[in-house]
Amino acid sequence: MIQGKKVRFRAIEEKDLEYMVEWINDPDISNLVVGWTFPISMAEQREWFIKSLNDQNNQRWIVETFDGQPIGLTGLWEIDFHNRHALTALKIGSKNIWGKGYGADAIMALMTYAFFQVGLNRLWGEILPFNEGSYRAYVVKCGWKVEGILRQHIFRNGKFYDLIRVAILKDEFCAHPQAINYIPQVEKNSISIKPEHISFDLSSLQESLRK
Ligand SMILES: CC(C)(COP(=O)(O)OP(=O)(O)OC[C@H]1O[C@@H](n2cnc3c(N)ncnc32)[C@H](O)[C@@H]1OP(=O)(O)O)[C@@H](O)C(=O)NCCC(=O)NCCS
Repeated sequence: MIQGKKVRFRAIEEKDLEYMVEWINDPDISNLVVGWTFPISMAEQREWFIKSLNDQNNQRWIVETFDGQPIGLTGLWEIDFHNRHALTALKIGSKNIWGKGYGADAIMALMTYAFFQVGLNRLWGEILPFNEGSYRAYVVKCGWKVEGILRQHIFRNGKFYDLIRVAILKDEFCAHPQAINYIPQVEKNSISIKPEHISFDLSSLQESLRK
């Protein structure tokens, strides 16, 4: 279980497919996400789910509250285990709770998991220029950096829009003032240990080996 301060992530189960379809088909949500699809049926969603089960490089999780209420979807896509980077995205499907900090908590939890459990060094994402909520959650609140603009990369509602490429490095996450509340205790300890604090008594080790 991957856990933040307000939300946790778990694997997708078949019971989740119904509201995942609702979120995909909701124009208030689909207008804000980068990927575009025709309206999705339950049958298509089930087929996608079966195919996704063996896909190691694209991992998606349900975001839920601590009382088990599913509120959204996140994940790591295009995981590159050699260069240690991945694409990520987040959808809070429950529109009534936008702007209450669930998104930023999910992003902080995702970064903690990606950097400290999966072993990645860089996460990247894409934001539509009119998606203020996403820009505020990733860039303003969670410390992501704008790396570039893909000009007229997206066709939406009869018009071309630029696409904003954003990313964060593990070191930048660790420097975020809130990161200390997310990074695992064992990692915090290793960060605070300086070489001059390590005293190694070779003679007592040799003594214990002789016994
Ligand atoms: C983007 C998203 C994940 C953010 O989740 P959230 O729970 O609203 O995130 P937070 O509350 O932590 O932070 C969002 C910030 O943006 C603001 N915000 C949220 N929705 C907004 C909107 N539609 N317009 C303007 N500002 C918005 C919030 O007030 C908050 O700002 P503040 O805390 O600095 O005042 C969520 O709005 C969402 O799922 N949107 C639809 C799908 C989407 O856009 N996904 C991202 C694609 S890259």
